Amino acid sequence: MARKRGPGIRRIAINTGGGDAPGLNAVIRAVVLTGYNHGWEVVGIRDGYNGIFTPEQYPDGGLMPLNRDSVRGITHVGGTIIGTTNRGNPMKYPTPMPDGTMAEVDRTDDIVRALAAHSIDAVVAVGGDGSLTIANALAKKGVRIVGVPKTIDNDLSQTVLTFGFDTAVSFATECLDRLHSTAEAHRRIMVVEVMGRYAGWIALNAGVSGTADAILIPEIPYDLRTVAAKIRQRSGAGRNFAIVVVAEGARPKGGRHSVIETRLGAAERLGGIGERVSRELAEMTGRESRHVVLGHLLRGGTPTTFDRLLSLRFGAAAVRALAEGRTGVMVALDPPTVRYVPLARATRRMKTVPLDCDTVRTARELEICLGD
Ligand code: F6P
Repeated sequence: MARKRGPGIRRIAINTGGGDAPGLNAVIRAVVLTGYNHGWEVVGIRDGYNGIFTPEQYPDGGLMPLNRDSVRGITHVGGTIIGTTNRGNPMKYPTPMPDGTMAEVDRTDDIVRALAAHSIDAVVAVGGDGSLTIANALAKKGVRIVGVPKTIDNDLSQTVLTFGFDTAVSFATECLDRLHSTAEAHRRIMVVEVMGRYAGWIALNAGVSGTADAILIPEIPYDLRTVAAKIRQRSGAGRNFAIVVVAEGARPKGGRHSVIETRLGAAERLGGIGERVSRELAEMTGRESRHVVLGHLLRGGTPTTFDRLLSLRFGAAAVRALAEGRTGVMVALDPPTVRYVPLARATRRMKTVPLDCDTVRTARELEICLGD
């Protein structure tokens, strides 16, 4: 392919921020190869922005030169070759105050300066709502930047899907398939907690695909008495086991979601709801119950074909956007095509499961209890 020079671009950087998701390496590969074909040098910033923000932590350099060799054979590999972090958000950087306390301080000006100091003309920022909010702040400060939506949670409103989600749902569904036989063999309730933060997409899609008996999602606060009734009803029909999928952000009616850690400069960590639901259902039904937390297993492994292709398309589209002179936009899936939306709009609203969406209606029609 003939190389073209982008609009005043010689060197671009890519970074990956937030929790990793299957497909990140495929995005990196697409950005490097496509950037190279424009005649641009491509570097990876290690661990979000840390490679340039806290360079002292990187004796071998906070920037990783990326070329054809460095991205060979990585399309199908989970994780990210340039590292990521979901701590130390530069917009809320944990900083010591004169009175000895710690406070969250906006340090994005330091990032802008560091990018200029490294002669980085443009950035491809791959991440979820946190990373894209940072990208938007940098765009407002004049950084030429294009976002790529990544998250297994699928909670970004301006793209039909994020990459990583399909892999997470596929794996969770496989786990539900496996858990059916052990649940049936022991006549137990199996409660399966899945990630997804404040959105129930993973729980809903995997739960319906994996024929769960009940699915609890953050969007529908639950009353466990309805789940217990469903389990009893199954027993009455000779089905002495049950599979209950619980999103980590699920919450009881009138209650709050279950938080295991809050940290300065980072999002709160959710968890513990699966164990709680399992214990309470055992008490309410008198049946034996076990819980399984799929957790970070959902973020690992080989991306599905769908996620690989989406990641490659997103990466190539991000470079295309820069070559066309765009900035402050996010690449978004709008089947059958990929389009660009302003970063400001992309991060304005979290995409949660609409209560009247087709999959929720399907779940109800299939007599899956949603806890309400
Ligand atoms: O946003 C992706 C995600 O995997 C969420 O589903 C989950 O709540 C969170 O990240 C976990 O983050 P950590 O890697 O800090 O445990």
